[in-house]
Amino acid sequence: MKHQIILGIETSCDETAVSIVKNGQEILSNVVASQIESHKRFGGVVPEIASRHHVEQLTLVFEEALKEANVSYEDIDAIAVTEGPGLVGALLIGVNAAKALAFAHGIPLVGVHHIAGHIYANRFMKEFTFPLLSLVVSGGHTELVLMKEHGSFEVIGETRDDAVGEAYDKVARTLELPYPGGPHIDRLAHSGQPTLNLPRAWLEPGSYDFSFSGLKSAVINALHNASQRGEVLAPENVAASFQDSVIDVLVTKTVKATKEYGVKQVLLAGGVAANKGLRAELERVFQEIPNVELVIPPLSLCTDNAAMIAAAGSIAYEKGKRSGFDLNANPGLELTSFNKSSI
Ligand code: KG4
Ligand code: ZN
Repeated sequence: MKHQIILGIETSCDETAVSIVKNGQEILSNVVASQIESHKRFGGVVPEIASRHHVEQLTLVFEEALKEANVSYEDIDAIAVTEGPGLVGALLIGVNAAKALAFAHGIPLVGVHHIAGHIYANRFMKEFTFPLLSLVVSGGHTELVLMKEHGSFEVIGETRDDAVGEAYDKVARTLELPYPGGPHIDRLAHSGQPTLNLPRAWLEPGSYDFSFSGLKSAVINALHNASQRGEVLAPENVAASFQDSVIDVLVTKTVKATKEYGVKQVLLAGGVAANKGLRAELERVFQEIPNVELVIPPLSLCTDNAAMIAAAGSIAYEKGKRSGFDLNANPGLELTSFNKSSI
């Protein structure tokens, strides 16, 4: 049987990434050019700078990905590209490059939702067993996604305000830590104690939604109140208290949904999946839950990359999803199931 080869492109935020994936589960190349250094001094991603970097980097990243995988355009079955959500100018660079290549080489084009990509990063670790639940924690999203089969996504809970990564980055900025702040808080938390009593937003009973803006404000208030009293709170204790509150809510809701929906597998997805505290707590808790397999991707597949887009694209392509040359960047794209399209 002929192998399936998918070329993935990801430019939704501050990583320019191209990858070649074989049969949806084998990475032949996964090249990521990070722009973090350029955005660091502004304390966050500057959209115009992101777009300019994507333009400058994309061709080089392409060439490297094709060379490393040792494939040529004739070998590629489909081009999968992140169509949204993300920064519109950044997404446009990837989408237009994908369209140009698809047109020039006569290769089918498949638009992929960024979060579907984060979820499918787990398929490089383990084959999916359904029903499964994915805890998606990134800079833009916090969601519990139920999947009953490949390419089918049901969001059973999501954040009502800040995404968890966003809360990490804002608290980090208050603590004057560099961008992106998540890894710095994670590192500090391990040397501190959860001395602050911070809120946990459980919301209405039975809800799988999240809310992190109250927690973020509570941290900022605690720091301001302390400084008005002429005191300084130990940053490692602030980090540990914040991280404890976040992990408590994320893990408790994930366990509850796991039981309610009788899922066989739990996947962790998104940039915040790199968090050591979250990984350790999920591992501890799921060790005691029989017949549920916990899957956590390696750090390199948690943060934005194109292998995950190719992996999701592989299933979308198999399901018959095709995008036309009218494919556009969609910054507010909703996560919907993959369907056969009529193009
Ligand atoms: O998925 P991602 O790379 O980009 C989006 O799709 O949003 O996630 C980036 C987010 C940032 O907010 C970053 O601070 C956070 O992931 N992050 C972490 C850690 N590593 C990255 N947050 C907490 N702990 C970490 N170790
Ligand atoms: Zn992401």
